[in-house]
Amino acid sequence: MPLIDPATLQPLLTAVRGRFDVDSIEECDSTNTVLMRRAGEGAPSGTVLVADFQSAGRGRRGRSWTAAPESGLLFSLLWRFNRTLADLCGLSLAIGVAVTEALEALGARGVGVKWPNDLLFQDTKLAGILVELASDPRGTLAIIGIGLNLHTPDGDLPQPACGLDAVLHPVPDRHTLLAKILTTLAPTLDHFDAEGFAALQARWQHYHAWQDRQVDILGDSTGKISGACLGADQDGALLLSTPEGIRRFLSGEISLRKKGSPC
Ligand code: BTN
Repeated sequence: MPLIDPATLQPLLTAVRGRFDVDSIEECDSTNTVLMRRAGEGAPSGTVLVADFQSAGRGRRGRSWTAAPESGLLFSLLWRFNRTLADLCGLSLAIGVAVTEALEALGARGVGVKWPNDLLFQDTKLAGILVELASDPRGTLAIIGIGLNLHTPDGDLPQPACGLDAVLHPVPDRHTLLAKILTTLAPTLDHFDAEGFAALQARWQHYHAWQDRQVDILGDSTGKISGACLGADQDGALLLSTPEGIRRFLSGEISLRKKGSPC
């Protein structure tokens, strides 16, 4: 029996319960991979897949996402948009805001967002978001994968990490957590679909963990660029103040690090 019981979850979804169809499984390779396949088979917007364990969980930039069984909340959400693929720039930032607000509503204080898709607590990674986009004859869709650490992950991690147990005592039951995240995500995604990231920019800036910090941008094609992190532009691009002026970076294949930090 998987850790999430859809029947227990449904009433907790309150006003948005009709908008989500939740499937819970013990194990898969990656919830994003499975849900993308189901999208191709016609799964509707609002389909959610939760797994207790992923044997090949994926992160941004080709990285893997490892979580021991029962140590995290791992799920993907299929959502359809009335926007073009190009207009979905900024989506992972909008999702980061919603997840942070959901955790705050459950009592978590001090959680912040790091461009483009991390949730941080005291500069350690609490959650990651992997958004994968596609289009089909029905329009544009996103597979929104969220990995939230409930306990500090073990092993060789690409950057320092923590669990929700470092932030909240006691850690809420995973049904409560998932329900609060989904009920916060639905109106945020509606807002994003109607008005784009510009309408959510101020909410994102409020939680921006690295505002005005000195950072390094690392990219496959850009090499290393240093500057002060000014946050997100109206379209979700990162704004960096450099000696040559303010530069913009789109999500793509770059990573952000504290200045001088290897990770
Ligand atoms: C990152 O920080 O690089 C993104 C990590 C995203 C991990 C989640 S776990 C659920 C979903 N399935 C995956 O394979 N990845 C995402």
